[in-house]
Amino acid sequence: MSVKTATDQPMTAVSVGAADATRLAHHTFPSYRPHLAKIGPGTPHFAHALWVGERVAGLILGEIEGTTARLLSVSVSKDERRKGGGRTLITAFETEARRRGCRSATVQFTVPSGKAAPIASLLRASAWPDPTLFSIIYTMTSAESVAAPWFVKAQRRMTDLNIQALSDASTTTINALKAIDWAPDELRPTAHMPTGPDGAALYPEASAVLLGPPDAGEGDVRGYILIHRAGAMGARVSAGWMRPGTYHGFAYGALIAHANRRIVGDGLPGASFVVRAHDRPMALFAKRYIAPLVGDIRDCFDCTKSL
Ligand SMILES: CC(C)(COP(=O)(O)OP(=O)(O)OC[C@H]1O[C@@H](n2cnc3c(N)ncnc32)[C@H](O)[C@@H]1OP(=O)(O)O)[C@@H](O)C(=O)NCCC(=O)NCCS
Repeated sequence: MSVKTATDQPMTAVSVGAADATRLAHHTFPSYRPHLAKIGPGTPHFAHALWVGERVAGLILGEIEGTTARLLSVSVSKDERRKGGGRTLITAFETEARRRGCRSATVQFTVPSGKAAPIASLLRASAWPDPTLFSIIYTMTSAESVAAPWFVKAQRRMTDLNIQALSDASTTTINALKAIDWAPDELRPTAHMPTGPDGAALYPEASAVLLGPPDAGEGDVRGYILIHRAGAMGARVSAGWMRPGTYHGFAYGALIAHANRRIVGDGLPGASFVVRAHDRPMALFAKRYIAPLVGDIRDCFDCTKSL
């Protein structure tokens, strides 16, 4: 596809060969450069460069997974934006995906909170559905959380809520989690989580904090969060869950406060939290009480289009 820019320079998307991958690496995000290096005939990775006259002004990178094409990155140089280049790249990506037999195209992207408009509008302009927010990521030090106004209330809640901390994410914890509405796909290894051959080994260094009514047995768990060590990062808290309808007041805050106590107890400097936004109370809590305290909140979206 070719479009004209305001200065009448033609914009064209051209398939990138393996020989050009290194030269174009700065057009994609550092974490996707290894994928770009793998493009070539017979590999699932492919890319198109956006040519404006004699120079490259953008790049789209994709990967085929069965009958789905995953859009890994799309970018257009600042001085060439809003001239149709993004749309040209998306069209080239979809055409290549169809040529390779894909029936759907999908993208997951993470942006600083509130900054989703350019990519979301670009997708919309290319007839993709509206992206869905699926999680929120933020980093908060223990000191920040302890200084937070909600921490005091959360501490008070902790006495009513019987929060139990399990010292490891071993079989005991996993069984306790399975006894509740545990969604096994949350144990799926992700970029944020250590991997392992079975569920119990996925979190070799993790602790779980479980929430239940006073004197609850393991089968009466109402919520949990997992804490795991993340090297120099300190600790990472992920995969939080509250039983629907159980959430009240500061229960989630209580979980975080408790997690932080453990983190401080272990001498770890900070925690980054991954909040699954489909759990609305947690997402609301994070947006309302945590967002004002921390600068760096990132929103993660996903979006899938039928081809
Ligand atoms: C997202 C990006 C690729 C868009 O490229 P682009 O060449 O400006 O896109 P287009 O000119 O084809 O824009 C198509 C439509 O997208 C929407 N859009 C693009 N940029 C927008 C912005 N900053 N704000 C709101 N809408 C925007 C508009 O609806 C636009 O149509 P219009 O210009 O007729 O109104 C570009 O902004 C970019 O490289 N951003 C940084 C990298 C990035 O965030 N990539 C996404 C994560 S992988």
